[in-house]
Amino acid sequence: MMLQQCILRTYYVLALVLCISASEDFAWTKNEKTSFFYGTFPTGFSWGAGSSAYQTEGAWNTDGKGMSIWDAFAHKKGKIFLNDTGDSSCEGYFKFKDDITLMKDMKLNHYRFSISWPRILPSGLKNEHINEKGIKYYDDLINMLLENKITPIVTLYHWDLPQVLQEKYGGWQNVSMVNHFNDFANLCFERFGNRVKYWITFNNPWSVAVEGYETGEHAPGLKLKGTGAYKAAHHIIKAHAKVWHTYDMQWRSKQKGLVGISLTADWGEPVDITNQRDIEAAERYIQFYMGWFATPLFNGDYPQVMKDYIGRKSGQQGLGASRLPVFSPQEKSYIKGTCDFLGLGHFTTRYITQKNYPSGLGDSYFTDRDLAELVDPQWPDPGSEWLYSVPWGFRRLLNFVKTQYANPMIYVTENGVSEKMLCTDLCDDWRMQYFKDYINELLKAIKDGVNVKGYTAWSLLDNFEWDEGYSERFGLYYVDFRNKNKPRYPKASVQYYKRIISSNGFPNQREVESWKRKAVETCSSSNQLLAAARRKSQGDQEHAGMQKAWPVHDEV
Ligand code: NOJ
Repeated sequence: MMLQQCILRTYYVLALVLCISASEDFAWTKNEKTSFFYGTFPTGFSWGAGSSAYQTEGAWNTDGKGMSIWDAFAHKKGKIFLNDTGDSSCEGYFKFKDDITLMKDMKLNHYRFSISWPRILPSGLKNEHINEKGIKYYDDLINMLLENKITPIVTLYHWDLPQVLQEKYGGWQNVSMVNHFNDFANLCFERFGNRVKYWITFNNPWSVAVEGYETGEHAPGLKLKGTGAYKAAHHIIKAHAKVWHTYDMQWRSKQKGLVGISLTADWGEPVDITNQRDIEAAERYIQFYMGWFATPLFNGDYPQVMKDYIGRKSGQQGLGASRLPVFSPQEKSYIKGTCDFLGLGHFTTRYITQKNYPSGLGDSYFTDRDLAELVDPQWPDPGSEWLYSVPWGFRRLLNFVKTQYANPMIYVTENGVSEKMLCTDLCDDWRMQYFKDYINELLKAIKDGVNVKGYTAWSLLDNFEWDEGYSERFGLYYVDFRNKNKPRYPKASVQYYKRIISSNGFPNQREVESWKRKAVETCSSSNQLLAAARRKSQGDQEHAGMQKAWPVHDEV
């Protein structure tokens, strides 16, 4: 008996020591911005990749699809880099079966895609015409994903509003969008909800509001400075809440799914962490970014700091009311708590410092915040101009979400990096590094107690990068846009991501350190294939005397 007790005691002490040393092991990563943490993700963690309808489907006028604001915008000269359009893009509409094979090969657990509203409701309105061919496309896609054990995570609005609704009502400037969007969502629940269990109402509404209605860089291209973005966001938040309630009342008990939203946010770090003004400016940066949408959904109203700043500036302009619209008490309680999970898109970080913008000199969303954004020139920026790789910002953002919104369930819905247009090298070392470091920060955040259930790499394929056209490639797979068949070629990061997925994280140093080398070994053969295909198509084109017709932007 004594001996047994003694053994038990020894085990207990040993277990305790192991626990303490494991947590100490982790604790040292807390203050270290660059430390790497070896370990694995919780069992059942979901790994995926993402896309969106306008960026990948092509088939812009096929099988009865209506026009979206992006079709109209991209067809206007001077809006998109090199006047490219998403008319055919990756031809995903025709090639989705091949794409599912790629997903299967990576052993993805989920695929995030969006439904094009005008593909199934060409005029935007449910009571006018339902395009059954469009419904069939999504039916087939969902069914085939499920047959391959890939969970669909479906976004209802990834920016492609039916053009008719823009022309007739002014799009998201008009409160009538709330009901039209609700009808569209309801139709999706009715037709697909027996199989889809994860719904995202809006993707990155910040971008819809600011780039669509404030700066005009995105469709519908309106420049309503200082008011347009706030109004659009107000209607989007109401539309989200309405759709959540529709699901809750009519579908949840039968379909047992979840309805969330996907917010994209950069992290904002104070330039001087000992300076209170910088600390507050960085807080404002995040509140004007993510808090603008998350605070109403989790707490019932806009962040206090937005109400204060926009209210004060509107007063200084001599306006009778704030440019930030107001929710009524009934609306506040209707909106509060309408998020079953938070989708989080994250790509980069900024340093933030206080900067005063006197009112009356071109007030806008940007000047309302009274801050300046800075970057460290040492940060790697392999692709898009705005995208610096700053992995530690990801962990901070995730912890911010945990503390601000009472630790909600999170799915990372977008994270990834692009490369510049001239690059046709499939051995994308910088992307492997980006994924490695960002996913590691995600792992640390989970160890911090952040409730993250899944990660979605952005994006499965190179695709139409909005106003940048095809000049910025985010894909795990390279797409040869010059070839009519739009063939896909794996970049090295496919192999790398596959290793992360099959190990469910980063098992140990020795193994992880071999991954890049192995990935590069396999990608050099894909490089040769691509080069040969390009030589061949160049030969064919020259033969046909068509060389001049080639898009010049994709030259090696
Ligand atoms: C977020 C958007 O949701 C997505 O469509 C876009 O491609 C990425 N950012 C990269 O810019």
